[in-house]
Amino acid sequence: MRVIKDLTDKNLDIISKKLIEGDVVAIPTETVYGLAANALNPSAVSKIFKIKGRPSDNPLIVHISGLDMIKKFAIDVPDIAYKLAEKFWPGPLTIILKKSNIVPDITTGGLGSVALRAPAHESALKIIRSTNLGLAAPSANISGKPSPTTASHCQKDLGSKIDIIVDGGPCNFGIESTVVSLLDKTPCLLRPGVITQDQIKKITGKLEISKNILEKYTSEETLISPGMKYKHYAPDAEVILIKSNLNNFINYINKIQDKNCAVLIFKGEEKNINKPYFILGSKDDFISQSQNLFRILREIDETDFKKIYVRCPEISGVGLAVYNRLIRAANFNIINIDD
Ligand code: TXA
Ligand code: MG
Repeated sequence: MRVIKDLTDKNLDIISKKLIEGDVVAIPTETVYGLAANALNPSAVSKIFKIKGRPSDNPLIVHISGLDMIKKFAIDVPDIAYKLAEKFWPGPLTIILKKSNIVPDITTGGLGSVALRAPAHESALKIIRSTNLGLAAPSANISGKPSPTTASHCQKDLGSKIDIIVDGGPCNFGIESTVVSLLDKTPCLLRPGVITQDQIKKITGKLEISKNILEKYTSEETLISPGMKYKHYAPDAEVILIKSNLNNFINYINKIQDKNCAVLIFKGEEKNINKPYFILGSKDDFISQSQNLFRILREIDETDFKKIYVRCPEISGVGLAVYNRLIRAANFNIINIDD
């Protein structure tokens, strides 16, 4: 396994060849690292599912260089798709459209739709351009684990199974892209990210919010985004999310006798807490919370803590995205103390 730091012409050539020949490469994006393969090559895409241990009905995002590539992968593209792409690409927004015939079923988990995104990371864009391919790329972690935000996270999860990891430094945002479906008349938010509902609404006017963002999947329902039914972002330690004000949180935590537990709190809240703690970021700085979240969940896995009690973030703006990841990391184990 090679970690490639410098995207020299020679290295870019090695990476492109690998992808064009139908192999996988872990690449950085501005959100999280992705495990990339040619989206139109079923045998290349099948390697992604096998390496990650990903369920075959969970579709992949196809990474493209910009809106000029939309028509290759999607049909019946509404104007609003171009408006969103113009505003937010390259960047952390994924758009779901009707798929074109050339996109194989394995890439879309058998769905008639395809997810498209132009990533903003310079290395990702260079790699896409030099291959001239659409790159299917889920987060480069073992399925169910926290997404990787550094090359060493990828190495830890997948190092024995892949040949190349491109190291583009720590990811700018640290959580995955916002996903919006344009399949129905009213656009629908399927996964929150650093591009917020309000930002999208400014372009689309209306926006529905999928109830799966805040609720647990129950098997009777049909999901528009199959990924939402699976366990996600979970470290080995048990995560318990606590909704309460700071005083109640501290009282609750300090009474716990368990020596194997730690807490995840906001900056400045460490005073008066009698447990080991990790700091997610400032309470009102959602971007630093998203940057830190998966890194900290992975750090906790390096310790002997068996339980981690987490202060609930605010659910507005980018906070919705942080909350969405935390309730899944906690497998919906949420304690409400204030009421
Ligand atoms: O920021 C990101 O989006 C990262 C980087 C690598 O680009 N990728 C990422 O991929 O998070 P992944 O596979 O971990 O998550 C993709 C999500 C899943 O929840 C999947 O179910 C959903 O997008 N998705 C993909 N194609 C879809 C489709 N056609 N319809 C509905 N949901 C789809
Ligand atoms: Mg993922």
